[in-house]
Amino acid sequence: MRIAAIGTGNIGGTLGQRWAAAGHDVVYGARSQGGSGPAGAPVASIASALDGAEVALLAVPGPAVAEVVGTHGPALAGKVVIDAANRMGEAEANSHATIAAGAPGAHYARAFNTLGWENFADPPAGANLMFAADPEARPATEELIRAVGLEPVFVGDAKAARTVDGLLPLWFALVQQSGGNRRLAFRVVR
Ligand SMILES: NC(=O)c1ccc[n+]([C@@H]2O[C@H](COP(=O)([O-])OP(=O)(O)OC[C@H]3O[C@@H](n4cnc5c(N)ncnc54)[C@H](OP(=O)(O)O)[C@@H]3O)[C@@H](O)[C@H]2O)c1
Repeated sequence: MRIAAIGTGNIGGTLGQRWAAAGHDVVYGARSQGGSGPAGAPVASIASALDGAEVALLAVPGPAVAEVVGTHGPALAGKVVIDAANRMGEAEANSHATIAAGAPGAHYARAFNTLGWENFADPPAGANLMFAADPEARPATEELIRAVGLEPVFVGDAKAARTVDGLLPLWFALVQQSGGNRRLAFRVVR
């Protein structure tokens, strides 16, 4: 898949690296373009990264999502948009409403937001990643979760983003109770 990873930090850089290693075609979208990012993938403007991409990963600070979507909303139409950003301290941690309003043609997925980046760089054996996605976004999101070495667990369509986000305070609480060990993930036993 051709993936535009918007953000080159902990999340964008780690996922970009893992997806490139799995054979996907990753281009980073950044404010300061030029050169290469993690795994040697090119760093382009956000507009150039989105051009021709099938998937857009939003890995910018929560408050910056509105700015990215406000500027690039039309370019997100028809793409799988994976919202990994957390609006910390807000009533709603996800940006589903912002993306639905600014990019109504996007296929929304909520994923990669409930575990620390360390678990994407080096996933604990047998760990799951819970996600929500529109039907059109589900197959690509599942494939990209597997590509980092986690097993996807589908929670529901985009309306279930808030349910996925419920894991966020749980993860932080368990990390705190583990003496700050961020390499901590979840497993569903059926
Ligand atoms: N860290 C984690 O373990 C973790 C886990 C799950 C979810 N998340 C979420 O993932 C998102 C990214 O976290 P992170 O830890 O990767 O942050 P980070 O390391 O600080 O990286 C943030 C990236 O976003 C870019 N950025 C900031 N403002 C921007 C804007 N207005 N327009 C375009 N790009 C912008 C930054 O680029 P510049 O260099 O230009 O500033 C940087 O590349 C956050 O929403 C966070 O809540 C983080």
